[in-house]
Amino acid sequence: SKTVPTEYIEDDEEDHGPGGDGAKWEKEQLMASMLHLGAKDAKKHEQEFELLLDEQIDFIQALQMPGSNEKAEEQQSEAERRKMSIQEVRKSLPVYAFRDAFIEAVKEHQVLIIEGETGSGKTTQLPQYLYEAGFCEGGKRIGCTQPRRVAAMSVAARVADEVGCKLGQQVGYSIRFEDCTSEKTVLKYMTDGMLLREFLNEPDLASYSVMMIDEAHERTLHTDILFGLVKDIARFRKDLKLLISSATLDAEKFSSFFDDAPIFRIPGRRFPVDIYYTQAPEADYLDAAIVTVMQIHLTQPLPGDILVFLTGQEEIETVQEALMERSKALGSKIKELIPLPVYANLPSDLQAKIFEPTPKDARKVVLATNIAETSVTIDGISYVIDPGFSKQNSFDARSGVEHLHVVTISKAAANQRAGRAGRTGPGKCFRLYTAWAYKHELEEQPIPEIQRTNLGNVVLMLKSLGIHDLVHFDFLDPPPQETLVIALEQLYALGALNHRGELTKLGRRMAEFPCDPCMSKMIIASEKYECSEEIVTIAAMLSCNAAVFYRPKAQVILADTARKGFWSKAGDHITLMNVYNKWCVENYVQHRTMKRARDVRDQLVGLLERVEIEPKSSKDTVKICKAITAGYFYNVSKLDNTGHYKTVKHKHTTHPHPNSCLFEEMPRWVVYYELVFTSKEFMREMSEIESSWLLEVAPHYYKGRELEDSTNKKMPKQRGKTAKELER
Ligand code: CDP
Ligand code: MG
Repeated sequence: SKTVPTEYIEDDEEDHGPGGDGAKWEKEQLMASMLHLGAKDAKKHEQEFELLLDEQIDFIQALQMPGSNEKAEEQQSEAERRKMSIQEVRKSLPVYAFRDAFIEAVKEHQVLIIEGETGSGKTTQLPQYLYEAGFCEGGKRIGCTQPRRVAAMSVAARVADEVGCKLGQQVGYSIRFEDCTSEKTVLKYMTDGMLLREFLNEPDLASYSVMMIDEAHERTLHTDILFGLVKDIARFRKDLKLLISSATLDAEKFSSFFDDAPIFRIPGRRFPVDIYYTQAPEADYLDAAIVTVMQIHLTQPLPGDILVFLTGQEEIETVQEALMERSKALGSKIKELIPLPVYANLPSDLQAKIFEPTPKDARKVVLATNIAETSVTIDGISYVIDPGFSKQNSFDARSGVEHLHVVTISKAAANQRAGRAGRTGPGKCFRLYTAWAYKHELEEQPIPEIQRTNLGNVVLMLKSLGIHDLVHFDFLDPPPQETLVIALEQLYALGALNHRGELTKLGRRMAEFPCDPCMSKMIIASEKYECSEEIVTIAAMLSCNAAVFYRPKAQVILADTARKGFWSKAGDHITLMNVYNKWCVENYVQHRTMKRARDVRDQLVGLLERVEIEPKSSKDTVKICKAITAGYFYNVSKLDNTGHYKTVKHKHTTHPHPNSCLFEEMPRWVVYYELVFTSKEFMREMSEIESSWLLEVAPHYYKGRELEDSTNKKMPKQRGKTAKELER
């Protein structure tokens, strides 16, 4: 078995807080728990995993928080809480003590900034309190926005439980492509993006009496835009109550933005969390995370669940598999370890699992994206493992390239993560980076999304709302001028705006679709190429943004063969369409993804009707690929004579994704769906096109000169591939 580089050290520049004795105590504690395994087993584990209690490991610094002297008492009350009824749980939350004061404050002020520790009950309780206090009388609703879909769904489910209704009745949620509300719904949870869309149909939010913009500190693009919009309508709708709630200390900033609105603070409970850093940077943070989970599980007494922060679904699945393998290898010698994933596209039946109490004699390991940083609270976490990364979209205005990057998190985020270990008792946080890196490499605060993303989507939305002067829009933090200009240019090239920057008829139709401008354009263009049936299928498949193919480790060859069975010479888009059309379990297609694709497709078909496009069908892949290109002509790369793909406009180097069916083919001209950056910039979902199409679909954007090499010939070295092609 391999040796493990994960060694934790103390940060000697820090004040050690309660003192070095803590270290000794901890060592002894860990030793004692090892002995339970039996001397022989302990020896074996010691070899297998370099133990936490190595000489270098020491107590570092407990975050200095109030309440540590109440530890024992609180831990006991936590145990009792598990047995409490749902109403008792409600009363045990920190916000409960402030219920009446809160209702009074809302009655008195139109806008209220709310600040409270994660898990104190803001999201689940405050809307309920107002409902109970009669704010829904007269048929009005209370809305609450969430930056993430999983949060919107899971919170709504929880509140429906508390209210005692079926989800979708009095309590419901609305997320993109999924509306779980009804006439009866009075408490509506929704993503911030959905509220933005609601403005299109109801610009004054007339059906709401209260709107709560929750998780304001996350500063997502949509939330930032909402700030400006709700501030504006609050001026002429004096009866609308606004709540802006956040977990961290941005309250003053929000308050001054909302004309010095009062701040309502909910004091939180927080327990001390010991922070550990690694001695040296980790080469492989996934491996380090896996090892650390096993170390904790083997050495720390139950109860006490583990929360690991990872960057996305793929990483989560990798770690989940590895943990299952390792705990299987150790067999009955260890207590049961239950890995549970949480990420944005997690199917709802799996979401419910993370909130189920941990069985006795077992330990949960929650593998989460930064969704678990503040928007979702899972009880019972005592250990947090923080590799220090998250996935973030970024947009390079100069090259027009947009992609998802894995980036280091901010100090604020790191501290939020650590805090998750100390919600119900004292905890420990293992940072898989050095204390030096924390101090010198992490930014203080994350950059708001509005300053690092493509604005095409929201600019189209704002234009549809009749907001023309974007430069003077009331932004909390304005986006870079350059990014606004690029968004306007892109929308012009797509035909959504005219040369005066006004919305065109095409732009108005595009805004009907809850999609990126490129995708909306592709869908509208399908009318001309008479292939809307096919295009909405492709759009639905692209929108799912989840793995379509199932690739179990034990059956990689079978799975890959099945996958290749769907391949189309035209490229990945048509392949996705084939998958949808022939989907079945034997072919290793993810069932859940496909069901979701079907739901999305149904909605898109409904929207086609709204913009009066008759859904026609075509077998001609050229027509289908032309429609795709009409939307995604920005994402066109050309293979140059050195064997590299470069984007046509900006000469940005891109690479075919190894999963692409054109990976070996290497056609001269390709259109791709998006760039993902892992080791290189990979084009995800690419299809072959002809350069002449570009002049047809994007005459505003491409000049003949740029497309001179229109031979569409493959690279010479690729000629030998014909035999392989025949094989397929
Ligand atoms: O919004 P805030 O972070 O202040 O707290 P919350 O989301 O309202 O959570 C309050 C309590 O409800 C926590 O103890 C959560 O564990 C619990 N909760 C739950 O059991 N299931 C959910 N789906 C959401 C919250
Ligand atoms: Mg919340």
